[in-house]
Amino acid sequence: MDGMQNFKLIFGIDAQDLFTAAGRINVIGEHVDYCGGKVFPAALNLRCNVYGRKTGSKIIRIALKGIEGIIELDINKLDSYRELKFGNYQAGVAYFLQEEGVQIVGCDLFYDCTVPFGSGLSSSAAIEVATAVALCEYAGVEYDKVKLALLSQKAENEYVGVNCGIMDQFASAMGKKNHAILLDCATLEYEYVPLELGDYTIVVANCNKPHSLIESKYNVRRQEVEVALKIIKTAKNITCIAELTPEEFNEVKDLLAGVVYKRAEHVVMECARVKKAVAALKAGDIVELGQLLNESHYSLRDLYEVTGKELDALTSFARKEIECLGSRMIGGGFGGCTISIVKKSAVEGFIRRVGQAYFDAIGYRASFYETSIEDGITVTKL
Ligand code: GLA
Repeated sequence: MDGMQNFKLIFGIDAQDLFTAAGRINVIGEHVDYCGGKVFPAALNLRCNVYGRKTGSKIIRIALKGIEGIIELDINKLDSYRELKFGNYQAGVAYFLQEEGVQIVGCDLFYDCTVPFGSGLSSSAAIEVATAVALCEYAGVEYDKVKLALLSQKAENEYVGVNCGIMDQFASAMGKKNHAILLDCATLEYEYVPLELGDYTIVVANCNKPHSLIESKYNVRRQEVEVALKIIKTAKNITCIAELTPEEFNEVKDLLAGVVYKRAEHVVMECARVKKAVAALKAGDIVELGQLLNESHYSLRDLYEVTGKELDALTSFARKEIECLGSRMIGGGFGGCTISIVKKSAVEGFIRRVGQAYFDAIGYRASFYETSIEDGITVTKL
């Protein structure tokens, strides 16, 4: 059954609008967004699709594909849904929009999300951004996509309690078909770069280890780099770690020890890799790009320690394939997805062999997705 039919079955009337926001991959620049670094994400065809109808009542009614029941959010009590298992992201977005003076109005929303949950492809950002668009449309206010991304991040940080950076919401809102976004997370300046890989394509694979950013050590990593920054600031006049070149980092690295040292080194070196990767892509040097993806993964494994045996296995089986130029985990880590640069003509065999090797090693299957790079937000009158 499609989303329209579902909507009618649940709410007894036709949906009027379809709002969508994208899941994302990140080509390179992992765990640097909250350190003021540059990231390089792209929006996917995997999306949060929200079918909606304005009711004008005082209630936002939410139904989710695959989940029984309807969640009701009273627009006069939006602060009180933080503990919800489902609907808390939507409530957080509604709450902060209202705080900014947007007149939230009641509506019925049906969520059909094709971004797999907990996959590192930003299902939560897609939900937040799509919700923000729907609520703004129904409130009749003009919205700025970057502002919606920032507000969505705020909802995730302060309402849901995950201290994420801006990358996911920005990509979800600002994505552009067939382009990756080189985003400076310190200034929010950005540049669209064509994601042209010639004979190669990006294969997205989910290791299917259940994970949650809240349960994972994501917030701990943030604290560790904050400690590193504080120490570095005693010697260098910087506002974020990403400002340091590898040479400048060398001058201060003796001040740091243990995990704090390793985390900071990852951030500095990953930022340097982003620069090289974008140059390689622009020059059509896909071999170099692939190599940088591998180095990024090794750094996330050894220095940032956010991979785990599943992501390590999936990427290492991918690298064994002769037609694969590079492979790495994406997103928060500890589970979720990888991307691999694979020759287009070899994708089928790649998926078969890597899938089998992963199953043999880990005991359950990885999923591979057919993806394309698309626009971030779409709004359609039905
Ligand atoms: C998650 C967060 C992002 C970013 C990545 C790691 O996806 O939501 O803000 O920090 O992890 O790069």
